Amino acid sequence: MCGIVGYLGNKEAYPILINGLKRLEYRGYDSSGIALFNGDMEIYKCKGKVERLESLKNKDSSSASLGIGHTRWATHGPPNDKNAHPHVSNNGDLVIVHNGIIENVESLRTLLIEKNYSFKSDTDTEVLVNFIEYVQKEEKVSLEEAVRLSLNQVIGAYAISIISKSHPDVMIAARLGSPLVLGLGNKEFFIGSDATPFLDHTKKVIYLEDGELARISKQGISIRTIDSDKPVDAIIHQLQMDLESIEKGGFEHFMLKEIYEQPTSIQNTIRGRLFPEKNEIKMAGLEMISSNLKVANRIIILGCGTSWHAGLVGEYLIEEFSRVPVEVEYASEFRYRNPVINSNDVVIAISQSGETADTLAAIKLAKESGACVFGICNVVGSSIARETDAGAFTHAGPEIGVASTKAFTAQVTVLAMMALYMGKIKNKLTKTKFREIALEINKIPEKIESILKLDSAIKTISKSLKGFNNSLFLGRGFNFPVALEGALKLKEISYIHAEGYPAAEMKHGPIALIDKKMPIIVIAPLGGLYEKLVSNIQEVKARKGKIISITGFGQSEVKSLSDAVIEIPDTLDCLSPMLTTIPLQLLSYHVAVERGCNVDQPRNLAKSVTVE
Ligand code: M6R
Repeated sequence: MCGIVGYLGNKEAYPILINGLKRLEYRGYDSSGIALFNGDMEIYKCKGKVERLESLKNKDSSSASLGIGHTRWATHGPPNDKNAHPHVSNNGDLVIVHNGIIENVESLRTLLIEKNYSFKSDTDTEVLVNFIEYVQKEEKVSLEEAVRLSLNQVIGAYAISIISKSHPDVMIAARLGSPLVLGLGNKEFFIGSDATPFLDHTKKVIYLEDGELARISKQGISIRTIDSDKPVDAIIHQLQMDLESIEKGGFEHFMLKEIYEQPTSIQNTIRGRLFPEKNEIKMAGLEMISSNLKVANRIIILGCGTSWHAGLVGEYLIEEFSRVPVEVEYASEFRYRNPVINSNDVVIAISQSGETADTLAAIKLAKESGACVFGICNVVGSSIARETDAGAFTHAGPEIGVASTKAFTAQVTVLAMMALYMGKIKNKLTKTKFREIALEINKIPEKIESILKLDSAIKTISKSLKGFNNSLFLGRGFNFPVALEGALKLKEISYIHAEGYPAAEMKHGPIALIDKKMPIIVIAPLGGLYEKLVSNIQEVKARKGKIISITGFGQSEVKSLSDAVIEIPDTLDCLSPMLTTIPLQLLSYHVAVERGCNVDQPRNLAKSVTVE
């Protein structure tokens, strides 16, 4: 989703801003722009990629050391040059970049039109910058105060950065509901939607909180609350992330790199937390809420997209190990349907980015109702990580590809450990069972390694899929959520219509779709409901569907029924999603590459969905 970058210092701002925008590309965008202040305001913006933006500017024409940049993901008005950010106020003094949605834009626009303001774009952002100009003129206040007073009249979500011709040594930043991070270098300051745009310049950051406004000048940063104008004592964090972890490291795409990172990322997820021989899970976040978990009558899991699918695996795991009932819900539905939330419910919110607007709003609702909220997040310092009562980081490392891969397996790993922990404190798991599962979790990384060796065989299978327009993914039990996740992966990056179904549901409708033009991907690992799945595969075969199976080694029955087979190592049924999902990720990746799709930045999608 939209990305913001800003620079104020002694260096040339242009290369810093352009590189920053390139680092933000992973969030998904349709247009981009920059504003540079060099005695006058230079604005460059256009529809399309940052490369196109670069071609607009003569690289030697500006030595500006102040500037802001933006990647836009269209909300108000189509993606085109005029709607791209930055936007300039009518008197030409104020320049803004903005993430989020101003909900009362129409009433502000009407007021401004009455005051003879005019607009060049369709955006809510241009309305906001003019509203700030209007307030500054009316109230005769400083820029900082004008921004603060204006934001108090705004309904909606925003992260903004503003520069002004008449204040050439100042940047203003403010946020409500959309992330913003400030970077502190040596006599230079940065703004970013996350830290990636300026990671090669500084690792010292301040996370701006909701409802805070920062005034950044060469003298330093002062932060105040937007509603009550009170000073805020900012905490400076030292980031651990390195530049290498956000670069491609020899892989053609981030998605492929991230698929290959899973043996390591899962090791990182379990390191120092899982002790099979001691029958112990050590996670500080779980300790913090252990009294809540002990009395919990119900667990509610919230998330969106892939995180929701991980939540479904979590439901099976937690119910299996601890016998506590679990409900899994889309955060976007939960927040708007007046759900019953009891004070002894424990809510688990799952999010890779930690910035998903619907998940964040659902968390706030759950907290208001008195529930204890536990977060499972990948991004340290993200809004969800800070908003939850306790939590566990997945430690999967930065995920740049829009299609979530290593975040999913890391989320499932955390949920498996959480389920073990709950099984133990609820006295529902024997020591032997606990140990057996914990030992097997430890073996998952090396089993994934061996699945990754099937990459070229999977690539060959992908060639036979690339020409289809529809597909079905079938799984049962623990692998039903994997079928949903496999279908999501394929559709989001290859644009092939894909549906995930519990295999037994097929005969209640989808079986009508099956003919030789319908590829069916069946997830049939050994164990659990394997025999039942064999019957389901037979039903598909009888209707001439093209069958690709993921199964254990040497399963001759499945092999003889399938057009292609991907054989993977065995594991416990309850942990099989951590393995079965890997060939599906590779399959989607190769199909998308075969079809010439933009794998890392699929059309219309954003990495971090910060608007509802
Ligand atoms: O950052 P989150 O985990 O909260 O994001 C949730 C979804 O937007 C995300 O999983 C999305 O579905 C991915 N594109 C899936 O690959």
